[in-house]
Amino acid sequence: MVALSALVLALSAVSALGSQMASRGLTRVCGTEISTAEKDAVEADFAARRTELKLAADAQKPKRVTIPTYVHVVRSSRKLSGGNVPDSQIADQMRVLNAAFANTSYSFKLVETTRTTNKNWFEYASNYEDGIGNQTEMKTALRRGDAKALNVYTVGFREGTAGLYGLLGYGTFPFDYEDAPKNDGVVILYSTVPGGTTDPYNFGTNLVHEVGHWTGLYHVFNEGDLSGTCDGSSDLVDDTPAQRYPTFGCPERQDSCPDLPGDDAIHNYMDYSTEDCQNNFTPGQRERMHAQMGVYRGI
Ligand SMILES: *[C@@H]1O[C@H](CO)[C@@H](O)[C@H](O)[C@H]1NC(C)=O
Ligand SMILES: *[C@@H]1O[C@H](CO)[C@@H](O)[C@H](O)[C@H]1NC(C)=O
Ligand SMILES: [Zn+2]
Repeated sequence: MVALSALVLALSAVSALGSQMASRGLTRVCGTEISTAEKDAVEADFAARRTELKLAADAQKPKRVTIPTYVHVVRSSRKLSGGNVPDSQIADQMRVLNAAFANTSYSFKLVETTRTTNKNWFEYASNYEDGIGNQTEMKTALRRGDAKALNVYTVGFREGTAGLYGLLGYGTFPFDYEDAPKNDGVVILYSTVPGGTTDPYNFGTNLVHEVGHWTGLYHVFNEGDLSGTCDGSSDLVDDTPAQRYPTFGCPERQDSCPDLPGDDAIHNYMDYSTEDCQNNFTPGQRERMHAQMGVYRGI
């Protein structure tokens, strides 16, 4: 569902963000982007389908759902520095993921780990224009399961635009599945798993953030315009306060929209703060997650 125009837009947005971050001496780039026009269209569809589903869903109590999870280790060599993430780090990553989603209806069970040596996929498989070819080839070859299955790809993002901006990951949304099932899933920088080398983004919450997108969440900050506005509903969740721009590092507090209620949600998984700073999804985000997953993944 990511149109070319949206990609070009995303690229210029990331470029602005990249220089903003470079000047702060910190980097965190999530490549999950959506244009305002596309967001308006998908949200209209979501609202319509949700109304139908709600009648049925309201009659039921939330239940625990186990999501089969496939981890695809894509490497350039058999060394750890070539992206060959060991099983122990993958197990730790699954623990961090499950702890973060403990208060939602979802838990994640690792059902298979695949290992593939492919230098081009490892270095280039981003969702930027110069990475799409390799991303598509990689996912077409490796993706398993249906809309209810989580596929995680670990890669190196070393070359091209991804390498230039220090991309950490990107994920698809539930509403993307219908049009592009093979594209569904989450791609992360291999060294952001717990014990990885991308300090301070090696606590495992990089994956939590991207799976947040995969379950239907947007960023808590307004990404429509990086010069910043205080559109309080940019993530369509009521209990995340309006936030003008992403958080960098881990400030004590931040209020980028002082005329509106609430401090910025700097500890939220869907911000850009450092990983040691992130520790929650809000009840409103959990509600949106459950509705998105119900409507578009049937769980
Ligand atoms: C889950 O909810 C409990 C009780 O409200 C809270 O103490 C805990 O921090 C929450 N965990 C996460 C990961 O949000
Ligand atoms: C992968 O990236 C390399 C380097 O840019 C490029 O030469 C190759 O054609 C790409 N593969 C695909 C399938 O697009
Ligand atoms: Zn993101």
